[in-house]
Amino acid sequence: MGERALIFEDVPADGSSPAGGTISVWTLNRPDKLNALNTQSHQEIKEQCARVESDDNVRCIVIRGAPPPEPEEGKRPKPPAFAAGADISEFAGKDSDDVRPFFEDNAWEAVWNLSKPTIAMVDGFALGGGTELALSCDIRIASDRSTFGQPEINLGLIPGGGGTQRLCRLIGYGRTMEIVLSGGMVSADDALKMGIVNKIVPADELESVTMGLAQDIASKSPFTTKVAKRAVRAALDLPFSEGVLMERSEFVALFDTEDKEIGVNAFLSRSDAEWVGR
Ligand code: COA
Repeated sequence: MGERALIFEDVPADGSSPAGGTISVWTLNRPDKLNALNTQSHQEIKEQCARVESDDNVRCIVIRGAPPPEPEEGKRPKPPAFAAGADISEFAGKDSDDVRPFFEDNAWEAVWNLSKPTIAMVDGFALGGGTELALSCDIRIASDRSTFGQPEINLGLIPGGGGTQRLCRLIGYGRTMEIVLSGGMVSADDALKMGIVNKIVPADELESVTMGLAQDIASKSPFTTKVAKRAVRAALDLPFSEGVLMERSEFVALFDTEDKEIGVNAFLSRSDAEWVGR
């Protein structure tokens, strides 16, 4: 295999509790192709998902795109990108039997199914599968020069990485229809107004803001964090009354954990909680 399509680095989470926690930072690494997601990208993302799921030290995952390379002599610079979609060069000449196995076991679902918190750190184009990868994360922080969209309709396609469903649940029916049917670009400002992203910041602050949030998340009990993610996620699938019951049952069960006692006593004694993760 040639160069990696995904670079990963586990950076120490300062103040992680239990100590030794890390934030796993994944960089989509095909900047010449605006980090378009090809088969190799999917494979490597899936491998990383399996790895962080079984590594107790990893408390939070941040996904980003590699910055544009230095422009070649006489050529125009490439724009910054999170990911400009699935790699369209892999679509030509394929029929449904060719693509079905790939789409049935893809990186978007692998990221979505992680039990740990995930943050998309978006700087530049996040189109098609790039928007969908960001939507597979729990939280999206974007630079103010970012652009989102689902342009698949322009290729005679529709989103295939969960975009119609996750976007609709995130921002509602009408806005999703506009984005999917028009295939148009959505500016960072509009993405913020619609609720596609949690926050937009100047590009030079993107990393510090995103990593600050990741550090904050990594400072909580990793056990409770997973329960919280599971409970919020259930709101997408369950009828409201069942969801409230499910939340109550998760809440009550937390009273049998050591971390609940640690957290409550830390508050009462005005000290920092030192979680044990159970
Ligand atoms: N798949 C494969 N290659 C892609 C790609 C994709 N989704 N998006 C960009 N690239 C490649 C381009 O082919 C080009 O490669 P080259 O330099 O070897 O020719 C390189 O990335 C730079 O892209 P380019 O189109 O030259 O940049 P631009 O600044 O003119 O335009 C975009 C940027 C994002 C508007 C444009 O690249 C684009 O529309 N990309 C496709 C977006 C899309 O439809 N995504 C959904 C796919 S399902």
